[in-house]
Order: sequence, then structure tokens, then C-alpha cells
Amino acid sequence: MLEGKKIVLGVSGGIAIYKVVDLVSKLRKRGAEVRVVMTEHATKFVSPLLFSEISGYPAAVSSWEGGRPDSSVEHIALAEWGDLMVLAPATANILAKAACGLADDLLSTTFLAAACAKVVFPAMNTGMYENPATQENLATLRRRGIAVVEPASGQLACGVSGPGRLPEVPDIVAYLERFLAKREGRLRNLRFLVTAAGTREPIDPVRYVGNRSSGKMGYAIAREALLQGADVTLVTGPSALTPPPYAKVIRVETTQEMLAACLDVYPEVDVVIKAAAVADFKPRDVADQKIKKINPEEGMTVVMDQNPDILKILGARKEKQFLVGFAAETQNLLANAAEKVRKKNLDMIVANDVSQAGAGFNTDTNIVKFLYPDGTVESLDMMTKDDVALRLLDRVMERRER
Ligand code: CTP
Repeated sequence: MLEGKKIVLGVSGGIAIYKVVDLVSKLRKRGAEVRVVMTEHATKFVSPLLFSEISGYPAAVSSWEGGRPDSSVEHIALAEWGDLMVLAPATANILAKAACGLADDLLSTTFLAAACAKVVFPAMNTGMYENPATQENLATLRRRGIAVVEPASGQLACGVSGPGRLPEVPDIVAYLERFLAKREGRLRNLRFLVTAAGTREPIDPVRYVGNRSSGKMGYAIAREALLQGADVTLVTGPSALTPPPYAKVIRVETTQEMLAACLDVYPEVDVVIKAAAVADFKPRDVADQKIKKINPEEGMTVVMDQNPDILKILGARKEKQFLVGFAAETQNLLANAAEKVRKKNLDMIVANDVSQAGAGFNTDTNIVKFLYPDGTVESLDMMTKDDVALRLLDRVMERRER
């Protein structure tokens, strides 16, 4: 989303300015062009030369270069150049000026002149941040459609602890990507339900029946859908992975819990992608206490009952939803997958032979085939799960629009 984006980055004079040097570099690495505008105070913390070098454009500070008024050119040119204007760190002072429409230096003038989307990252002492004057200024900016990002909480440079920290650079980048995706991404306005990882069925308080699913495929799909602007609910079984930012995460353990979570959001979603490896069976009786090995020579029998088939239930209740299943097979891949499309009333299935090297559970790659109700089969080469996610979303969009 940042590729080719023109960003005017307004930098005002706060301690957090040191993070913004790195921010410029990270934005450029993602393909954005960045032009920095600094306040006079900001130049006391960091030399404009550093921002000029790191951004590849001269950092602009004054509209009175060499004592002659140049403002008619520079602030308008910058304001028109940007696709996005970001203030980071935004001090109480620049926010107050922005809220009042004051224009007494290049940054405030550019902010006032710019018609593009704007995002501000307040960063200041907690007392200044919580002061009703600042809060009212922020409310004014929000009311005008400017995105105001909550500062992080923690120990501030002034020794106080509380809200007022500039978020860390990866969080700022993630916010801006998401902000742009919600405005321009092709999946904006669509709601996705993605399930991931395996469900677990308890045997006793310390043991469970589970499977080898890591959640990598489902998490990759959720991440990609978010980056393209979708709202994503991620219903996930236990996984060591960190969910992508901005997903609504519902953590479940058993198949029954996954079913309940899916049914809850199902009426509101447009697309369902069921990448989870669902436990088909569960122990009939779950022991209250840890089962002891009293007579180990006799072995142990666990009677298993069948779990509900979540996807089949969703298929039977399908209205507007586009329903995508996964089929993990070790033999007769195409025939078994096609049968699942039919039985579960799916719009698409992603079939993989989990016995192949480079496919299936707990790997970074997958080798999949896409099957559709009309009998079409598309075979993909071995690729990363991120690439499978991209291709999958391409097909979902194409098929939904038919
Ligand atoms: N699935 C489900 N609920 C179940 C079992 C599976 O929702 N109780 C979903 C999976 O999330 C996947 C698809 O159904 O999207 C196919 O799962 P898979 O394990 O391949 O097939 P099963 O339907 O369980 O059939 P079998 O195990 O007999 O191959």
C-alpha cells in the first residue's frame, strides 16, 4: 500500500523525533517517497541535513529562504505533491495550530493548505496530552476527518509515566498501511472470517487430542486480506504465531468453541476462508483429574465422538457469503476435494496433498490446487504460504464478481 505513495512528513520539536529518522527510512524501503517539513524547534533536536540525506529530498523548514517570502511557492507545492500528510511527532503546539487553522510557519501553512488525507501522531508529556485544551483540539481534528492516533503509554523522557509516547516505528508503519488500505484497498468494505490453526479436544486437564497445524496458512490469509483493506475476524485455535495487526482475534480451543465463534459472526461476513484444521473427533468423557497410569499393561481406551462439521453447517446456512474450504488429503486429492465442494456447498476449495514435501502442516510453503463447483481445477506450483494467500484472494475476488 505504501509503494509509490507520496508522503509529506511534518516533524515538530519533540524528543520522539529520533524515532522519526528511522520512520523515514522504513517508509522509503516500502516504496514511499517522503518529503520532510520541520518546525524551527524540530531543527534544535535534529539537523535538517540528516532528514535531507535519509529522505533524498531537501528537508524544508522555512518559507522565508534568504529573507525573501517564498511561501506562495513552497507550501502550496508541498501540499499539492502529497497523497498523504503525516505529523509525527505532533506536539501540543502544532496540534493547537492545526485545530485553529493557524499558519505561521512552513509546516502549519502546508498542513492548512493540504487537501490530501492526514494522520497525526500526538507525542508529548502526559499532562499536556490529557489537558482538556489538547483533547479538545484533537476532537476538532477528528471531527474534520483527520486521523488521530492514540499515543502509546509508558515511561516518558520527562520522567512521567502515562500516555504520550510516540508509537514504535513498526506500529506507525502498520498503522499507515492499514489507513491506506481502508481508503484504497480492493477489499475495503468487505468483511472476512478466517479460521486458522488446529482445534484441540481435552482428554483430561493436562492432555488433549490435536493435530500438527501451525496456523501459518490462515494467518497469512488474514494478514493479506487486512493489507488489502478487508475487516478480518480471525478465529484461531492455539498457535505460536502473532496475529496480524488490526485483525479481530477470537481465540478458541475446541471444535465446539470454533463453531460457536463462526456462527456468531457468520451473518455479517461476505467471505469465509476455513483454513483451520478442525479436530473431527473428541473424547466422549473428559476426566476431571489427570488420568493416572494405574494398570499400564492393560493400555488405555479413549472413546471418541464425532464433532460437528463447521464448514458443512456454514454451507447449509449460506446466503450471500463466499465460502472457501481447505482439503488436507494424503490420497485421491482431486476426487476427495471435489466431493467436499459438493457436500459442504462451497464456492471454492484449496486442496493440498499433505504427504508431499513442501506442502501442508507446519511448513512455510504449500503446493495447492484450487477447485470450483463448475469442475475447474487450477494447479499452483510450490510457493510460500504468503503467495498462496495472494493468489487465493485474487480468485475469491474474480469469482465473487461473476
Ligand atoms: N472442517 C470443518 N469442521 C470439521 C472438519 C473440517 O469445518 N469438523 C473444514 C476444514 O476447516 C476444512 C474443510 O472442512 O476447510 C475440510 O477439512 P478436512 O479435514 O480436509 O476434511 P473433513 O471434512 O474433515 O473430511 P476427512 O477428514 O474425512 O477428509
